[in-house]
Amino acid sequence: MVYSFDKEVNRNHTQCAKYDGLEKYFGVNDAFPMWVADMDFETPAFINDAIIKRAHHAVYGYGIVTESLQQSVVNWMQTQHGWKIQKKWLTFLNGVVPAYSAALEAFSEVNDEIIVQTPVYFPLFQSIKHNKRKVVYNPLKEQNGYYTMDLEDLKSKITPKTKIFTLCSPHNPVGRIWSKEELEALAKICLEHNITIISDEIHADITFKPFTPLASISKEIANITVTLNAAGKTFNIAGLNAAYAITCNEALKTKLDEVVKAREIGSINVFGTIAMEAAYTYGQEWVKELKEYLLQNILVTKELLKNTNIKLSQPEATYLLWLDFSCYDLTHLQIKERLLKEAKIALNDGLTFGKNGSKHFRLNVALPVTRLKKYLNIIAKTF
Ligand SMILES: Cc1ncc(COP(=O)(O)O)c(C=O)c1O
Repeated sequence: MVYSFDKEVNRNHTQCAKYDGLEKYFGVNDAFPMWVADMDFETPAFINDAIIKRAHHAVYGYGIVTESLQQSVVNWMQTQHGWKIQKKWLTFLNGVVPAYSAALEAFSEVNDEIIVQTPVYFPLFQSIKHNKRKVVYNPLKEQNGYYTMDLEDLKSKITPKTKIFTLCSPHNPVGRIWSKEELEALAKICLEHNITIISDEIHADITFKPFTPLASISKEIANITVTLNAAGKTFNIAGLNAAYAITCNEALKTKLDEVVKAREIGSINVFGTIAMEAAYTYGQEWVKELKEYLLQNILVTKELLKNTNIKLSQPEATYLLWLDFSCYDLTHLQIKERLLKEAKIALNDGLTFGKNGSKHFRLNVALPVTRLKKYLNIIAKTF
């Protein structure tokens, strides 16, 4: 192992949402935070050193997207995901959520219908409302903690006003990696109904079985897809606000670029671009070792919760585990209170991911294993 994930890092008072935002988001300051999707691991030195080196040049004027940054993204997609993309397909901007919001405006009109598959990362439906479009829910089906798409329900919900399908791939919070067959079946429906797919693939690098980028499947599918991605989750640099959109469809790209320009969101923080390029240039070994460590943490979680009635959905990707507390004779609120006030652990509330997130909570296991064990034991004792 080149990298160590066991190092304890004190994140208090570093202006971070996860620790310093506890009072704001949970109304307490004595709980242990296992919520928001960033990791308690230090960002690798090859990124940190690049940032420090740049910071030594104490002029922080406006940055540009360089040819070498673009090439690093092209190379990463090819080596990590076997997807051959071109530099001219890329639009850089300041976050996946801002990119999603811009794409909603670019590919639909006010009051058009946008489909999302709940439970899902909540900004994906909140942003639809903020953009004055209509959210159409196509809930995932669940069986024994395994989630699948309900394509019959999807078909029944399509109307002439349906313009966009929102794909979360891999899926946050249920941890699914959609198989090529599932993606093909979904894309077939979207192709038939002239629906553009926005595919949020920000968790694509942290996968425990083969992952297929939607747009890599066929030319036809690529032509209706805009993929959103970033190095933020993989390398723990989400606070640097740098992301990109990929589409080979020139008309879609032109529309998206117009909105990005009008919203003035195409200028990325200079440290964000430096970090992204370093990540994609030197990050292969880090990703390999990170995945090994996270997989170990997932196994530890399964083991330590196995004598409780908490059910864990099968995690195929990400460090976010979707916990089902519905076996307990408790209301959602009682479970929430017990976690926060008795166990003193702050998890993401499942209801924020959609109605079918009731009695579910999302656990972040990207932290040193000793500390993970300590807090899992507390959860196990409390339930
Ligand atoms: C599915 C998904 N998309 C987007 C984001 C956030 O992306 P960004 O910080 O680049 O806006 C997250 C963060 O948790 C996420 O889970």
